[in-house]
Amino acid sequence: MANYALLAVGVGVIGILTFAVPMLLAEVFPWQLIRRQHFGRPTMTTKSYKGRTVLITGANGAYGSRAAKLFAHRDVETLVLVDVRDCATVKEEIEKELRESGKTVMPNIVIWQADIMTFAGCQEIGKKAREQLKALDHVLLTAGILAFDCRQSPEGWETTIQVNFLSTALVALLLLPLLKPSPGNPNPPVLTFVTSFGIYPAAPSMWSLPKDGGSYLKSLNNTENGMKQAQQYGMKQAQQYGISKGLLLYFTRELAKRVSVSGDMRKVTINSADPGSAWTPLTQPNGQMLIPRLIMNFSSRDPQFGAIALVNGASASEDAHGKILHDFDTASYPPFMERKTGRQAQKRVWEEARKEFEAKVPEVKAVYRLLTTTRD
Ligand SMILES: NC(=O)c1ccc[n+]([C@@H]2O[C@H](COP(=O)([O-])OP(=O)(O)OC[C@H]3O[C@@H](n4cnc5c(N)ncnc54)[C@H](OP(=O)(O)O)[C@@H]3O)[C@@H](O)[C@H]2O)c1
Ligand SMILES: *[C@@H]1O[C@H](CO)[C@@H](O)[C@H](O)[C@H]1NC(C)=O
Ligand SMILES: *[C@@H]1O[C@H](CO)[C@@H](O)[C@H](O)[C@H]1NC(C)=O
Repeated sequence: MANYALLAVGVGVIGILTFAVPMLLAEVFPWQLIRRQHFGRPTMTTKSYKGRTVLITGANGAYGSRAAKLFAHRDVETLVLVDVRDCATVKEEIEKELRESGKTVMPNIVIWQADIMTFAGCQEIGKKAREQLKALDHVLLTAGILAFDCRQSPEGWETTIQVNFLSTALVALLLLPLLKPSPGNPNPPVLTFVTSFGIYPAAPSMWSLPKDGGSYLKSLNNTENGMKQAQQYGMKQAQQYGISKGLLLYFTRELAKRVSVSGDMRKVTINSADPGSAWTPLTQPNGQMLIPRLIMNFSSRDPQFGAIALVNGASASEDAHGKILHDFDTASYPPFMERKTGRQAQKRVWEEARKEFEAKVPEVKAVYRLLTTTRD
């Protein structure tokens, strides 16, 4: 009798190990993904950006500044550096590097200082782009934060959700009609969002829509309740960060879909790129907390590689439309986004963000109009 019980337990344990654990890991911690990036050594896929215009947000940051330099070294004509901080130093570094390597120093490094903690900051970027840019070939949206306490933005959202999701999405919408290839660029222009592995561990918070039919965004805006213990290990912050990137990924996939069917939109490639992890000012506070530090140690690499992956993402051809790009391949969307509830959540994210933007940012209405006329 005891032998049968033991056998049953054994079979149960083996069952859990072979089926349940891998399934759970695929949902919340597909470690192979970050391990592959840890060892990945991508190289640049585009030889020359001659004549083209590139805009980078977060251009003062670890990934953004490196990406800017990569474009500069490959003959880009106009480089627009956008950040909450003044990018004068990045500009000087680029000029110095070009001089030292005997290349012509490009005359058009433009600096736009803008704070996307508010919608007004996003509107400023849109306005400058409308007034100053004749073409826009590549947009790389790297601006982002990992906030360590739940604070409220001037727009009334938790700051991570504000910067990483809402404002990033708004900047994309405002730039969308301006994406236009410069003469000589044979490919459609590309708009690239920066995504992150951080979505996976935060995914369970995003699985279900509020039962009372209330706002999905509001339910995810502040997940403070019952999170005290997680906070101790730095998981609370990771959670809020992952949620913001998850919302952005939903938005991106819906935007890509709508751009494809819009009759009034010029051809644009919309995608996400995942740089993999690196110790940067953004991730540096993870060093103080055990679990995040261990995960970083398991996944991080020199930020130069992530920057190359991002530049390649923003240089992708049209077959990358709607895809997530890693170093050498496209990655699949997280499993929860592929489920029926994920499709429903995506619609909610799109609609609720639209409501928020249209209430506060009048000029975005024209962009939504472009996106709602369907191609026959
Ligand atoms: N590092 C990683 O392991 C990793 C992994 C996956 C994805 N990512 C993503 O990669 C992107 C770049 O991250 P990073 O590691 O390079 O971090 P970073 O060095 O902190 O770069 C982010 C940049 O965005 C700027 N920014 C922050 N808030 C802003 C605001 N309100 N308005 C305008 N600009 C603002 C930052 O300025 P301040 O310095 O003043 O804050 C900084 O220059 C982020 O989207 C991040 O989520 C990073
Ligand atoms: C979002 O969360 C912030 C920070 O916790 C809070 O102050 C704000 O009231 C919340 N906003 C909404 C719309 O729920
Ligand atoms: C990462 O791992 C190495 C050894 O593999 C160790 O020396 C180092 O202290 C670790 N770093 C952090 C931040 O935990």
